[in-house]
Amino acid sequence: MSQPGEHPINRVREVQTPLKILLLAAEVVPFAKTGGLADVAGSLPKAIRALGHDIRVAMPRYGRISPHRFNLMRVLDPFPVPMDDRSEQAELMQTSLDGDVPVYMIENARYFDRDCIYMYPDDAERFIFFCRGMLEAVKRLDWQPDIVHCHDWHTALIPNWIKTIYAHDPFFENVASVYTIHNLAYQGIFGYRVLEVAGIDEYGFVVHPDTVDLNEVVDFMGRGIFFSDVINAVSETYSREILTPEYGEKLDPLLRDRRDRLFGVLNGIDLDEFDPATDSYLEANYNLESLDQRVHNKLSLQREAGLRQDPHVPVVGIIARLTDQKGLDLVTSTLEAVLQHLGAQFVLLGTGEQRYHDFFSELSNRFPEQAGIFLTFNASLARRIYAGSDLFLMPSRFEPCGLGQMIAMRYGSVPLVRAVGGLADTVSDYDPVSGNGTGFVFTTYDPMALYTSLVRAVETYRHRDIWRELQVRCMQQDFSWEKSARKYVELYNRARAFRAQDRTA
Ligand code: GLC
Repeated sequence: MSQPGEHPINRVREVQTPLKILLLAAEVVPFAKTGGLADVAGSLPKAIRALGHDIRVAMPRYGRISPHRFNLMRVLDPFPVPMDDRSEQAELMQTSLDGDVPVYMIENARYFDRDCIYMYPDDAERFIFFCRGMLEAVKRLDWQPDIVHCHDWHTALIPNWIKTIYAHDPFFENVASVYTIHNLAYQGIFGYRVLEVAGIDEYGFVVHPDTVDLNEVVDFMGRGIFFSDVINAVSETYSREILTPEYGEKLDPLLRDRRDRLFGVLNGIDLDEFDPATDSYLEANYNLESLDQRVHNKLSLQREAGLRQDPHVPVVGIIARLTDQKGLDLVTSTLEAVLQHLGAQFVLLGTGEQRYHDFFSELSNRFPEQAGIFLTFNASLARRIYAGSDLFLMPSRFEPCGLGQMIAMRYGSVPLVRAVGGLADTVSDYDPVSGNGTGFVFTTYDPMALYTSLVRAVETYRHRDIWRELQVRCMQQDFSWEKSARKYVELYNRARAFRAQDRTA
């Protein structure tokens, strides 16, 4: 049986015809961000543009996005968006990513002029409005995309609409859809009512004999998977894992049905944005040639975190949403031993579930000189942790791609990860015999397995030369978007071919 990872998509090839691509996401850096989705939506388009394609981005204009700061210009007169049996007015604003990629923002004060991006009772309606509004907007702009590239549940109804209510609209006749899954754990599940809001109630529920729990709800993620021409999960390993009940979040039967449409293009990181040689948030800039300078970042991080300043104590860093996904229960059950027996220092940055807030606050009270805890979100401190820590911990239960380990490696912090999803695809285990590897990798989801690899890492850290070689190998890894952008372009072409084939079928 063919695995998604073995698909010909992984043979990179230059694509000649420029494509028109509309990429829609609920969050995009630098305008709005809660997680990795925003990083991807803000950096992938630049790389696709660099390959010569006309890619444009669309997102809602949240109240927090300052029209002044981002130079927003109105590009369309207010226009109606069909919602339920009425219509709502939308406005279309435009700005750009680095002056390069056009960014459209759908505006409507009632839906988007709020403090946060999500977590409102009417989220389904808000994102239906954004997506439907954008489809109506491109018609008015008379800019006909070849591809709509949707991300996560918020934009997942677009492929559904294209194949139902817009099926006979000549404007969308040749528009193919690509749906990227960033995290199957957030599916956007709602009741029947949203089908009416979205204008697709006449088609009813999507029913699958093996996803019984989901047959009488509206699962946005499931619909994206069901209706899109091509599906992408953000790493090869994740694209295989989600075919199993363990990682499939109840959608694995549907994903197995569509496995010939499922691919796993790995995310990249923005190498200009994340560059220790130029990062203005750091105490000292450095590169491979001036790696000795890195220690100044470590000492200043220790100061900032209230830890004892000592260049020789290993500093373990974590930057994460404090949720189960990130393997924090493994961390909470081993951390005390790590501090007491291994003598390491620990720095954590992130927000999330209350029980983790409680645990880590209490820990910092008990180990004030060894544990620096920041229960907040702070982009500049994040950079200083990447640059000042020796080890970067990501013991995730599951990890679709993971960007932190790639950034850490670029900054010379050696990753310690669990072999799942994108972590398995980007970090290889250090082998003291051959001297190969870029980090420390464990497999079993178990505190002892984490602890054992920490022991191994801390022991390796004592050997300065070996550690230096490990850091250099990490910093030499190529996580640029270019490779992945070429694979995405190939996916776009594949989606067009599937679309043409399905329409004649
Ligand atoms: C989600 C996933 C993470 C991935 C990111 C970007 O946040 O949890 O693994 O790196 O999306 O695709």
